[in-house]
Amino acid sequence: MAIDNSVILAMQAAVENDPNNIALRLHLVSLLFEDGQFDESLKQAQTVLTQEPTNTDALEKAANSAEKVGDLTKADSYRKLLKALKGETEKPPITPPRISNFVKDEWAEIIEDEPLRVPQSDGFEDDHFFESERPDLRLADVAGMEKVKKRLNLAFLAPLKNPEMMKLYGKSLRGGLLLYGPPGCGKTFIARAIAGELGANFITVGLSDVLDMWIGSSEKNVHDLFDRARRNAPCVLFFDELDALGRKRSLSRTANHGAINQLLSELDGVSQNNDGVFVLGATNHPWDVDTALRRPGRLDRTLLVLPPDALAREAVLNFHLRGRPIDGTVDVGSIGKHTHEFSGADLAYLVESAAEFAMEESIETGKVRSISSNDFKKALREVRPSTRPWFEIAKNYALFANEGGIYDDLLEYLKELRML
Ligand SMILES: Nc1ncnc2c1ncn2[C@@H]1O[C@H](COP(=O)(O)OP(=O)(O)O)[C@@H](O)[C@H]1O
Ligand SMILES: [Mg+2]
Repeated sequence: MAIDNSVILAMQAAVENDPNNIALRLHLVSLLFEDGQFDESLKQAQTVLTQEPTNTDALEKAANSAEKVGDLTKADSYRKLLKALKGETEKPPITPPRISNFVKDEWAEIIEDEPLRVPQSDGFEDDHFFESERPDLRLADVAGMEKVKKRLNLAFLAPLKNPEMMKLYGKSLRGGLLLYGPPGCGKTFIARAIAGELGANFITVGLSDVLDMWIGSSEKNVHDLFDRARRNAPCVLFFDELDALGRKRSLSRTANHGAINQLLSELDGVSQNNDGVFVLGATNHPWDVDTALRRPGRLDRTLLVLPPDALAREAVLNFHLRGRPIDGTVDVGSIGKHTHEFSGADLAYLVESAAEFAMEESIETGKVRSISSNDFKKALREVRPSTRPWFEIAKNYALFANEGGIYDDLLEYLKELRML
């Protein structure tokens, strides 16, 4: 299937510019593969393997590409190596890759405690489609991240609370904001906090709802969704994992163009008045989002959600330490200061690892002891921040495809990180 050629060209230029960047080259491999350029994706995957022979991602991609070009022997040998490597890496005691689930589940207990469904006044059959809940989370519970909170306040909460003021200044009572940033850094979390502030005036459209849009009467679903939002106005409509829905039409053959087109016309309020309907989107891959979705009046503003700052990290650590025994040597504030570039999910994993060290020893010695500063030191040697690769990839889009300045925040941050 054809991918927007400019995306591939930009990536190729980026890789040439930075030939040792493995994450970047692997991203190019994926793009080439999706585009059906299997010869080329194989070649690029092999280049990665000369740099890093045991890179499992590269091996997998090389195997798939080799298979596509018909070189089954090669595909087979890559797979054998892959299997051997995976067998090896399954041994280490603390590698639960399901960490993101773990984080989600923990929060689920708290924030999905009492989901408050919007009264079903109109008896829509497909009401499962609209999820309206009232999580107990508030923006005040989101530690640190002052810049993001301020922008959200200005972009959503203030207008919702002061429609008259908006009118006075001739500001439109509609519009959209796209949250983007590395995975596990709080986009969904922040959206839930806004939902907590707004109650029934916040409608979440999650990934499963989005997938539902691809099947069945999706145009009608999209229309009903916006109708619901208009009736609840002022209202925020939140599309999580937006790239799955608004994926560049050139990127996916399977995409339901009807649903996207319906979404675009609903966003424009062609047939209805969208006053008071605000759209919030979140994505880890803003470059995959259909550019039509970002035109003026649609999701025309972007907001970068960065890895948690020291304050936020401390709060995340404290949250995950709740209910676990820790001794006096653990200085959470200091761990927060020393975990630059860790995502929320990385921090959860860090706590989990420290707890596991303490537990293992307790089992060995038969004496129960609390989690200590030493456990964290050990854990910090094993758990590395996961956000870098995202920035490596994002950097190239920011440099080569910064149309309309959508990545200006990102460029600024990259300069701070000295990645530019
Ligand atoms: N500022 C913050 N305060 C408290 N917890 C946070 C914060 N930022 C991130 N987290 C934690 O990180 C986890 C992952 O964030 P999530 O919103 O799922 O990331 P994303 O949607 O960006 O991939 C959240 O469940 C939460 O535990
Ligand atoms: Mg999310």
